[in-house]
Amino acid sequence: LDASLNENRTEIPLLGLRNYWYPAIATWRIRKKPRAISVLGEKIVLFRDNGKIFALADRCSHRGAPLSMGKCLYPGSGTVSCPYHGWTFEGGTGKLVAKLMEGSETPPPARAAVKPYPVQEHAGFVWVFVGDMEPVPFETDLPECITDRSQWFSISNWRTYNCNWRLLIDNLSHEQHAPFLHRDSPELLFQPIFKHATRNSTEELEDGRGIGHQATGGVHVTHYPGLGDFPPPQEAWYRVLKPSGRGKDMSEGSEATSKYGIKFRHMNMLPSLALIGRPNGNFFTCRFVTPVGENTTILFNLNLFRRRGSLVALMNSLKWVFWSSWAHDWLFSDQDKFVIERIRPGAEMLSRTDIGLTAWRWFTSTNARRPEAAAAAADPQREKAEASNVQ
Ligand code: FES
Ligand SMILES: [Fe+2]
Repeated sequence: LDASLNENRTEIPLLGLRNYWYPAIATWRIRKKPRAISVLGEKIVLFRDNGKIFALADRCSHRGAPLSMGKCLYPGSGTVSCPYHGWTFEGGTGKLVAKLMEGSETPPPARAAVKPYPVQEHAGFVWVFVGDMEPVPFETDLPECITDRSQWFSISNWRTYNCNWRLLIDNLSHEQHAPFLHRDSPELLFQPIFKHATRNSTEELEDGRGIGHQATGGVHVTHYPGLGDFPPPQEAWYRVLKPSGRGKDMSEGSEATSKYGIKFRHMNMLPSLALIGRPNGNFFTCRFVTPVGENTTILFNLNLFRRRGSLVALMNSLKWVFWSSWAHDWLFSDQDKFVIERIRPGAEMLSRTDIGLTAWRWFTSTNARRPEAAAAAADPQREKAEASNVQ
């Protein structure tokens, strides 16, 4: 089992899963001035013209200057001009429309185009589809609590991690670090340690886009012969509150299940997001992991609230501003950040707490979109033809 898990791990690409939509940057940060970003190791320039956002490969096909250093010289045309000799590219298609130093007699060659990226604004972020195929419709690729703005609204933030994306998504796959690592976070400090030593299991989601995690059983206190109790006495005496229910599962009886058909409290979905909900079914925190480079990752936190009238929305927002934004999105998450950024990759010895993690790695390496593999499987002659072309 261990050997196959390690193999699975190496099949998960270092720079992220291609052919998915990713949140890339807050939408308010993109104005007229071109801006450089990186997603899955690809350098992209974003710019806005006439209110619309465009995304192109950030390398001029002439002699390689970054288009993000250029300017939108012709407002309304949706173009950006390279800073070096003024080659000017159309935002939507990447087509070269003018070489500003060469006169307009000869039409620019089609092969000088740069790669355009499918891009869209949604839920306060600019989303980019990075891959090698036609983009998949945004709505069919992401969960309803993100796509359906008529039912859900979000309050979001983001944080940059200096580590590979795989370490971050591993951390978000219900691998039982929370009762230990977060036990002294402001949210949990005065509560009993929430249930640990649970029996964990996972199940594929009905839509096939990810897995759901379940945990049953578990205790608040354990006794270890020769050591004593966990939590140890010096940490136990101040845990005077009632458990908040954080560790609770979505049982059949929860409102989330009966009213909305939500089966899992914690889900992981492709390409790299975790949805963690409440038993009332009215809230999810979505943690979306966007690989930037090999050692840089952005964690986008979308706090998703079901729309239930403006008063509830106001209360939710106030609670987030005065409590969750710092207690959870900042301090709680920083406990993870502090450890994850210092993990030394190497051999692992996976254990019972890692059931969610191994299931997620397995699911990812088996089900991630691979257009080339799919095309080759559909047309076995193609590989042969390609092989003979090489000779
Ligand atoms: S390098 Fe871009 S115009 Fe010359
Ligand atoms: Fe955590």
